[in-house]
Amino acid sequence: MSSVAIIGPGAIGGTIAAHLYALGAHDVTLCVRTPFESLEVGLPDGTTLRATPRVLTSPSPLPSPPEWILVTTKAYDADGAAAWIRALSGPNTRVAIIQNGVEHIERFKPHVTLERLLPVMVDLPAERDAPGRIRQRGRSVFRVPANDLGRNFLQLLEGTGFDAATSDDFLSVLWRKLALNAPGAVNALLLQPTGIVRDPAIADLMRGMILEVVAVARAEGAQLEESLADRIIENQRKAPADGMNSLHADRLAGRTMEVDARNGAVVRAGRRHGIPTPLNEMALVLLEALQPGRRS
Ligand SMILES: NC(=O)c1ccc[n+]([C@@H]2O[C@H](COP(=O)([O-])OP(=O)(O)OC[C@H]3O[C@@H](n4cnc5c(N)ncnc54)[C@H](OP(=O)(O)O)[C@@H]3O)[C@@H](O)[C@H]2O)c1
Repeated sequence: MSSVAIIGPGAIGGTIAAHLYALGAHDVTLCVRTPFESLEVGLPDGTTLRATPRVLTSPSPLPSPPEWILVTTKAYDADGAAAWIRALSGPNTRVAIIQNGVEHIERFKPHVTLERLLPVMVDLPAERDAPGRIRQRGRSVFRVPANDLGRNFLQLLEGTGFDAATSDDFLSVLWRKLALNAPGAVNALLLQPTGIVRDPAIADLMRGMILEVVAVARAEGAQLEESLADRIIENQRKAPADGMNSLHADRLAGRTMEVDARNGAVVRAGRRHGIPTPLNEMALVLLEALQPGRRS
């Protein structure tokens, strides 16, 4: 039996928690900000997973440190997650950062030694309707670096049915996901769903944003091809027109948007390499100005 603490069991962490709990082979603890008593996760096949793991509401040690901590807060809640990590970790606790963006290590290296810190790329469409109430809308993909820590994480997920694997080129995996996410800022700015990409001018703008990501990613050492931009736009054109990305959904709901970890990361990396990223920078500045509490 492995012991696992999940910090921030929202859409992603709650889904992972319910699947791990269902195996009956793990001691699962949820570290929450907004309390709830049980988890319910609606699955894509129409069934529901119900789970009643241990729930902690403020950072305090467990009777023994967990083998794994999974951090599934939004990237901008890293300080709150770090308080939990400090309270829960033992010398052998491994910490997986399951978030979007490319700066997992940078965000958490002040709090976890590098040999215990695992960045994870997650592709898992899920939404939270209320604390502890989640809908998983599609298949779940996890990719981790091909090292001992990554392989150990895959053992933890064994039996869940998640598509989880190591990647020999994890850097490219992360940047490829960011290339997909970066143009989502346009939907959030316009408050328009996926179908807006069918407007040729919007498609050109989004393509330009992705090409900035590709240039920066290559400078970072990732293997991204320029044709990726056309492929992403084409896939978006074919996707259901009413799809809504999380930046868009967060802006509509008046929640903080995770734009700094996405377009902000592109701008920061661009500056490091002397590569201009004006489209991502404009999206970043405008969405930051629209964050809750920043509006005049
Ligand atoms: N959802 C998706 O479809 C999806 C897909 C791929 C990648 N991702 C990425 O996965 C990450 C998590 O996203 P998400 O959609 O799961 O976000 P989410 O539903 O907003 O869940 C985040 C959770 O973190 C909790 N939290 C924040 N600060 C905390 C603290 N100090 N202590 C304890 N809990 C805390 C929040 O609590 P409250 O209940 O108090 O808000 C919330 O339950 C993000 O980086 C996102 O970009 C998401």
